[in-house]
Amino acid sequence: MASRPDYGSASYGDAFSRINALVIVGEAMADRHFRRLAALLPQDREELRRLGAMEGRHAAGFVGCGRHLGVTPDLALARRLLAPLQQQFDACESEGDVVGCLTLQCLIIECFAVAAYRCYLPVADPYAAPITAAVLQDEDEHLGYGEQWLRQRLEAVREPLERCCRQAVPAALSLLQALQADLEAIAIAPLELIAEFVVCFQEALEAIGYMGLPE
Ligand SMILES: [Fe+2]
Ligand SMILES: [Fe+2]
Repeated sequence: MASRPDYGSASYGDAFSRINALVIVGEAMADRHFRRLAALLPQDREELRRLGAMEGRHAAGFVGCGRHLGVTPDLALARRLLAPLQQQFDACESEGDVVGCLTLQCLIIECFAVAAYRCYLPVADPYAAPITAAVLQDEDEHLGYGEQWLRQRLEAVREPLERCCRQAVPAALSLLQALQADLEAIAIAPLELIAEFVVCFQEALEAIGYMGLPE
């Protein structure tokens, strides 16, 4: 396990301003995605609105974590970094690709969130740790929703699911690359995070009914 960083140091605060922003903007984006999904899937509307509201609370919780450390999140950078995923969701939505929208949020972004929070939890400051632990449980539930929805329709969703993954997985991984130095500065090993994402994604695909990664 990585050693605990000096949460009050200038270098920690500087790195955290970018990581914290990515988390806040990512949670707000997830909130928006679930609300859009609620409109696309009326039969699950209430459930999806509930999941979206959880994301809104996650964003607020992480705003508090930045504030607690006296850090101003670099929201403009985070919006720029998350733009490819945002644009992919919007494109799927405008094409009527509901499976793509659902795969992007409930499989890839949730796997990414689970992996990131699993790696952050052991090195989080004492204020952020319980917030992160609670959020992690929620993200597991969101991932479970996505797995179940996709599993029930596996043959019908296979093609759009694979198309979505081919575009979104590299986009998610390039986010990590952009923040590599900042992850190291807050005591997260970037390679460990990638490994965690791969494990989480593989498990999700198996839960859906794939025997392995899509071709
Ligand atoms: Fe969340
Ligand atoms: Fe989530």
